[in-house]
Amino acid sequence: MKALVYHGPDQRGWDTVADPTIIDPTDAVVRIDTSTICGSDLHILRGDVPETTPGTVLGHEAVGTIQEIGAAVTTVAVGDRVLLSCVSSCGRCRFCKEGRYGQCLGGGGWIFGHLIDGLQAEYARVPFADNSVYEVPAELSDEQVLFLADILPTAYEVGVLNGHVSPGDVVAIVGAGPIGLSAMLTARLYTPGRIVAIDLADSRLQSALQFGADTIINNGHEDARAQIMELTDGLGADVAFEAVGVPDTFELACELIRPGGRVANIGVHGHPATLHLERLWTRDVTITTGLVDTYTIPRLLKLVISGRLDPTVFATHHFALEDTMAAYDTFADASKTAALKVVLQGSETAHAINGRVAAGALA
Ligand SMILES: NC(=O)c1ccc[n+]([C@@H]2O[C@H](COP(=O)([O-])OP(=O)(O)OC[C@H]3O[C@@H](n4cnc5c(N)ncnc54)[C@H](O)[C@@H]3O)[C@@H](O)[C@H]2O)c1
Ligand SMILES: [Zn+2]
Ligand SMILES: [Zn+2]
Repeated sequence: MKALVYHGPDQRGWDTVADPTIIDPTDAVVRIDTSTICGSDLHILRGDVPETTPGTVLGHEAVGTIQEIGAAVTTVAVGDRVLLSCVSSCGRCRFCKEGRYGQCLGGGGWIFGHLIDGLQAEYARVPFADNSVYEVPAELSDEQVLFLADILPTAYEVGVLNGHVSPGDVVAIVGAGPIGLSAMLTARLYTPGRIVAIDLADSRLQSALQFGADTIINNGHEDARAQIMELTDGLGADVAFEAVGVPDTFELACELIRPGGRVANIGVHGHPATLHLERLWTRDVTITTGLVDTYTIPRLLKLVISGRLDPTVFATHHFALEDTMAAYDTFADASKTAALKVVLQGSETAHAINGRVAAGALA
C-alpha cells in the first residue's frame, strides 16, 4: 500500500510499504477513506517528537471502513464505516475505566502516527478496535465527522469543559488556529456573553470572526490585557484558553483572567513558562491542563447529527490521498494558503463523491 512515511527531521515520502495485518486479536484493519493533517504532524517533521522513529507512517485522524477484524473484536464488523480517534483506549486499565483514554496504561493513548503506524495511508492497523473507533451514522459524510477525531474533542474537553464555560461568560481565546477556532465553536454551545480571539495573524483573526468571535485582538500590535480589562469593567475574562503552546501565551492567558476565573491550557508546551504566583496567589484562579481523551466524541456526533455543530467549516482544501505530499506543503504554509484543515480523500471516497461505483478492495 501507499502511505506518508516520516524519514527523520524535514524528510517525508509517499512510499510503498507493507500492507497492515492483524497482530493482536483486538486489532482491526481499516481502509482509510478520508484523512487529514494535524499541527502535531508538523511538530514530528520538525524533529520535536523524538519518540516517533523514522519509518513511521504519520497521521492520527481518519474515517475508514473495517476490512478485517481480530478474533477478540465483537462490537464492529467488516464493512462498518468508523471514525478513528486520535487516542486509542485499551478499555481495561484504571485510566481507560475513568474515561481518561489519553493516559491509557495498557498500550493505548496517542499512538497513531506517533508510536505506531498512523492513518495517512491507504490502510491501517487499528489496535483495541472495540474501544477506539466510533460507528459513523449513515446520514453523515466523512467530512462532517473527520474533525471529531482530534481538534474538536481537544478544544471541547481540554478548553471548554475544563474551563467550565457558562452562559454569559467572557471567554478569551489566545491562539486562533484549528484548536482555538474549535474552542470558539464548542464554547458557543454554552452561550457565552462574548468570545474574544487573540492571535498574531490577521488571517486567523478573520477566520475567528467566522467561527463566532465577537472581538478580535492582534496582540502583535495591540495590548490584549488592556482591551480585555476595558471590555470587563477592569475585572478580566471569566475564562481564558491558551491555544498556542509557548510560554508568552500561557503567561498572557493568566494575566487576562478575573479573580475567581479559570485558565484552561490546551497548548502543547516544549519550554518552561513562568507561573506568576506573586500576582495570582490572591486571585482565586483555577488553572487546568490536559491531554485530549476524546471521551466526548459520542456527544459531539449527536450535535453534528442534530445540526447544532458543523465541523465542515474547517475543510479549506481537498486533496486525493495520493497527493498527501502536496497537501502537507499547503497545510504547512498556512499564512499564505489560509489552510485550516486539508481533507485527504481515498480513491473510494472520491468515487462515492463522483457518484461512480466504488471499486477495489484490500489488495
Ligand atoms: N492538549 C492537547 O491534547 C492538544 C491536542 C492537540 C493540539 N494541541 C495543541 O494546541 C495548540 C494549538 O494547536 P493548533 O493546531 O491550533 O496550532 P496552530 O499552530 O495551527 O495555531 C496556533 C495559532 O497561534 C497563533 N500564535 C502564535 N504565537 C502567538 C502569540 N504569541 N500570541 C497569539 N497567538 C499566537 C498563530 O498565529 C496560530 O494562529 C498547539 O500547541 C497544539 O500542539 C493540544
Ligand atoms: Zn492532532
Ligand atoms: Zn487503557
